[in-house]
Amino acid sequence: MRSVSAFAKVGISTLVAGAIGAVLAAWWLPDWLPPAAGIEADREDTLYLWLLVVSAVIFCTVVGFLGYSMWKFRARPGDMSDGAPIHGHTGLEIIWTVIPIIIVLGFAVAATIVLNKNESLKQGHMVVNVTGRQFAWSFTFPKRGHVHTGILALPAGRQVEFRLHAPDTDVIHSFKIPALRIGEDVVPGTPTTVDATPTRLGTYAIVCAELCGIGHSQMRNILVVMKPDDWNRWLAQQKKLAKAPPPSQSGNGTTDAAATFSSAGCSGCHTFKPANAAGTVGPDLDNLTADAAKYGKGETAEQYVRESIVDPDKVIVSGFQPGVMPTTFGTSLSSAQIDALVSYLLKGGG
Ligand code: CUA
Repeated sequence: MRSVSAFAKVGISTLVAGAIGAVLAAWWLPDWLPPAAGIEADREDTLYLWLLVVSAVIFCTVVGFLGYSMWKFRARPGDMSDGAPIHGHTGLEIIWTVIPIIIVLGFAVAATIVLNKNESLKQGHMVVNVTGRQFAWSFTFPKRGHVHTGILALPAGRQVEFRLHAPDTDVIHSFKIPALRIGEDVVPGTPTTVDATPTRLGTYAIVCAELCGIGHSQMRNILVVMKPDDWNRWLAQQKKLAKAPPPSQSGNGTTDAAATFSSAGCSGCHTFKPANAAGTVGPDLDNLTADAAKYGKGETAEQYVRESIVDPDKVIVSGFQPGVMPTTFGTSLSSAQIDALVSYLLKGGG
């Protein structure tokens, strides 16, 4: 009986160690998930946290007993005898069957509840059509006059149903927004859907999570979660841009640059009066000449603007954050387009 009570002591101390380990794992490790920007993300993170806590307790308990047994029942020098013949222990077997069943069933129920909540569409939700093609995402708001946009802006607090599709001639992609904890395959010929409710203002990455060809890693876009008022303004502006006459192919390139400004999504994040852009995620481009003088050390204004488009994290205007603007414009725009954009921005703002 002495060894049983010793085992009980080990059991209790490993459970305590497990609990401490779980607390440390759950609250001590910083930023091990991307920011949670939606209601569904919070639910999933809570579920994941509990999985981690329970796993940490089980891990510490198992390793505790293992370590204790290795030390306690080790072979002494010169002892060549066999261990005691033990044929199972009914009590222990019941315990290590029943406890895992309870844990697994508990998590199955909790996960089902989270999944059901996350996948139930509420009345008045918004619909966004998402098209995935090699190698870009584009978005349409079918209930808002089919406005077509290159970047995805959404109002905070509103549930969104993403209807995903890819052209029949394209390949399979996967629409993934880590901050919203959603991801769903986009399959040519088979429409799929996924839902989310963004709540936290900010800029987040939209990525493709299915290897889809040579441009797969470039198939990124940005999600901007705005206050509802800002979003209404943004949408009105997108409508206005859509109605504007198509850019002419002739002339000095200024109209083409205006089209590039819109199609590349610049207007979603920057304020620029000549383009009726009023975004506040990035620096105000009406101040570009002044910013170039202040930040572009030893550079001409042209060099500074070009560098800010191609390598946006090199110089950060105070009050803004690195890592927000896509770093892919150097490859997704032609150098003629960039040249036109630079002169358009400087002329317009100067
Ligand atoms: Cu589309 Cu990878």
